Amino acid sequence: MTVTTCVFDAYGTLFDVTAAARACAEEPGREEFAAVASQLAQIWRLKQLQYSWLRAAAGVHCSFWQVTRDGLDFALEAVGLADPALRRRLMDLYMELGAYPEAAGVLQRLKAAGRRCAILSNGSPDMLQAAVASAGLGDLLDAVLSAESVGVFKPDRRVYELVGRQFGCAAAEVLFVSSNGWDAAAAAGFGFRSVWVNRAGEPIERLPWRPDHEIGDLTGVPALAGVA
Ligand code: LAC
Repeated sequence: MTVTTCVFDAYGTLFDVTAAARACAEEPGREEFAAVASQLAQIWRLKQLQYSWLRAAAGVHCSFWQVTRDGLDFALEAVGLADPALRRRLMDLYMELGAYPEAAGVLQRLKAAGRRCAILSNGSPDMLQAAVASAGLGDLLDAVLSAESVGVFKPDRRVYELVGRQFGCAAAEVLFVSSNGWDAAAAAGFGFRSVWVNRAGEPIERLPWRPDHEIGDLTGVPALAGVA
């Protein structure tokens, strides 16, 4: 079956989640923060994801903005820098993360070849809108789908079901692209053709499903979508 629809995870896939801590570390007077910025970014991301899964498992949903803030609070305390002004600055920067350099060009190629393009993310609608606008990707996306509309986070299958509901397409027509190994794996389990963008060269997740493809950055996506 031909790929009609390319669906992208947002955070870590189109948008660089480490950019907020990096940009903050470059600001004047942030020497103390700069020394721990990359450690903080790692803990922040890990805790943000863990809290999303734990809340989904416990049936206690909240917005992705909230788990992002909770993850940051944990991370700031872990690196010994629990400062309210720094916290505010990092959350503001998270709201307008830049896209990876190849993202716009890849979306343009897919659109030019007639593929539908969308985001499917755990991110809350306001976060996604702000990130899409600040990265200038709005005109290249047919839909920005948020887990918030079903009140649970990926990898719950109700989130993956949003794609078929939006476009009326079969799962096998969808190429799902994520840099999160667990997301790419679960999407394959759902029935999408899934692509793991393994930017960091991480080991494969030990889960019951495997992504169909593994690539190093987004430039490999058009070929997998049948776009020469
Ligand atoms: C997302 C996170 C999980 O955008 O990366 O859904």
